[in-house]
Amino acid sequence: MARITAGVATSHVPAIGAAFDHGRTGEADWQPIFAGYEWVKAWEAQEKPDVVILCYNDHASAMMLDVVPTFALGCAEEYQPADEGWGARPVPTVYGHVELAAHIAEQLVLDEFDITIMNHMDVDHGCTVPLSLMFGQVEQWPCKVIPLAVNVTQFPTPSGNRCWMLGEAIAHAVESFPEDLNVQIWGTGGMSHQLQGPRAGLINPEFDNAFLDKLIDRTDELRQITRLEYLRESGTEGIELIMWLIMRAALGEQVEQLQRFYHVPASNTAVGHVVLRPVASGVTAQAAE
Ligand code: DHB
Ligand code: FE
Repeated sequence: MARITAGVATSHVPAIGAAFDHGRTGEADWQPIFAGYEWVKAWEAQEKPDVVILCYNDHASAMMLDVVPTFALGCAEEYQPADEGWGARPVPTVYGHVELAAHIAEQLVLDEFDITIMNHMDVDHGCTVPLSLMFGQVEQWPCKVIPLAVNVTQFPTPSGNRCWMLGEAIAHAVESFPEDLNVQIWGTGGMSHQLQGPRAGLINPEFDNAFLDKLIDRTDELRQITRLEYLRESGTEGIELIMWLIMRAALGEQVEQLQRFYHVPASNTAVGHVVLRPVASGVTAQAAE
């Protein structure tokens, strides 16, 4: 049976990808940021996931305003890194897991979650920058990836609570996939940032750190954060944090935090990163007996 063994969240700033691709990771501005990902790189090398369900948002790279799916699930064999204006990043092709993706698509629709099926899609920095941060510079990504793109660029965007329910439905779908697979779920984007308008450059460490605290065991409070609150407290692009809620919901009620990192700023963004492990409540109760 397929199992979700861990959840990972990270910001996905494009300038991090550029620093990475141009060999600037050791420079004074960038070194503390990349240092924050050394732990996860070593951990991922041991964990060796078979598949990552990568919840992110497309930034009008693959999907312009002519078609705006709320939840777009990648069901393709492969995804090319998108050209975001400077040519595609020199990173490997992202290979999908077609069977698991098709199973998730079917189960989500049975669970009354009507997603859009993407049989062709390029993947932008929301997907490829986290892959670089977790796996480093590689010839091939070490696992299959199922990209799940969430609309956070064009209103109406989904609520955090809707994303939470999607995460639960994804967990339900993965559990019923018969093949023995080590599956991780990632949420990318955030933390606080605003790229345009009079408040451009906004960063809110209090909001971000409260979000990181509550992600462990006060998730009911996170589910209630409205889109207006994200806008007000974490800036126009802070709403990307709703992808973290899909990841967190898929892990079940109890989690153990393996890693937490926070750094201000990278480009215009407060960088946050966590690694969470689901704790099977039945298992711990039995072990204590
Ligand atoms: C930046 C951050 C993002 O999440 C993004 O999608 C684009 C730009 C930034 O800080 O520059
Ligand atoms: Fe973004």
